[in-house]
Amino acid sequence: MSITPRVFSGMQPTGALHLGNYLGAMLQWIAMQKTHECIYCVVDMHAITVWQDPKELVDATRRVTAAYIACGLDPKRSILFNQSQVAEHAELAWVFNCVARLGWLDRMTQFKEKAGKDKERASVGLYAYPSLMAADILVYRATHVPVGEDQKQHLELARDIAQKFNNDFKENIVAAGFADGIFFPQPEPVITGPATRVMSLRDGTKKMSKSDPSDLSRINLTDDAETIARKIQKAKTDTEPLPSEEAGLKGRPEAENLVGIYAALTGESPGAVLRQYGGGQFSGFKKALAEVAVTKVGPIGAEMRRLSSDPVEIDRILADGSARARAIAAPVMHKVKDIVGFIRS
Ligand code: AMP
Ligand code: TRP
Repeated sequence: MSITPRVFSGMQPTGALHLGNYLGAMLQWIAMQKTHECIYCVVDMHAITVWQDPKELVDATRRVTAAYIACGLDPKRSILFNQSQVAEHAELAWVFNCVARLGWLDRMTQFKEKAGKDKERASVGLYAYPSLMAADILVYRATHVPVGEDQKQHLELARDIAQKFNNDFKENIVAAGFADGIFFPQPEPVITGPATRVMSLRDGTKKMSKSDPSDLSRINLTDDAETIARKIQKAKTDTEPLPSEEAGLKGRPEAENLVGIYAALTGESPGAVLRQYGGGQFSGFKKALAEVAVTKVGPIGAEMRRLSSDPVEIDRILADGSARARAIAAPVMHKVKDIVGFIRS
């Protein structure tokens, strides 16, 4: 069981996927299919760390699956499945709960943000969330994890867990046939999408997020052309014209974000975008940005709607992916049991 390069990543089936998910993570996922064995997951077990209406969770899981495929994920080439169908994730997460330290989890900024002021009322699952995330990755002994900037801290924790597990069980790992004492690899974050942190259209200092109460703050992948154009037209800006050079974007978060989105969608650099639009008013630039966004996002939404009309086919794809995922995860979990000292039959 040597360690081979393998990609794992996931998104939560909560709310609608938006341009931040697409530019920050999805484009990188699609690109990596060409060079790596890839496993992409709809993390429904992470979703229930905050309350989800069961019927809505079923729909959202299918919707995110449709979005993955509409964006270009190929379910034949890559493994595409929902987390709860592969029980090994939960099994390994328990072992990791006993490896990770309270002090490590106490530092997680996402928990602090999501739990808010009343942390006594947050679920235990929300607190242990990064431990499950580490299990998602390591149950496949995955080596590369393409994510947006906001997941960096969770990835560092996954690396710490992998290392502590390898250290704590070193003797047994060697006895299990891993002469170098390394059972879990150190998974590497791949944070190289064209826009690793897309900001809200209403506030350039907050990230674009599914959970923002204002729908005007984000472009959803299912938005139609008119909605996309309206949201961009209403996007917050400042009163200065656009600068001609990238340095002029400093301290102007809304301008920086819109230019960054344009650049990411067209594959140009922000400098090149400003050479074309610098000195002009936002209104002209916003029209051009709306056109670019409609051209890229419009077809994805249309394809999502087409795929979503056949839930039976989506469920079949998830079942097939789950079986393939299980085939990789089960032997890893067997080894973990041997290493930890669990009797198995
Ligand atoms: P989530 O929506 O939290 O399940 O995130 C799914 C993926 O999209 C993760 O890799 C995130 O890092 C990425 N992502 C979410 N929001 C943004 C954003 N505003 N900008 C860039 N990447 C993002
Ligand atoms: N926590 C990630 C997010 O909210 C989703 C996720 C769960 C994930 N497990 C993962 C991402 C494993 C990468 C690898 O975006």
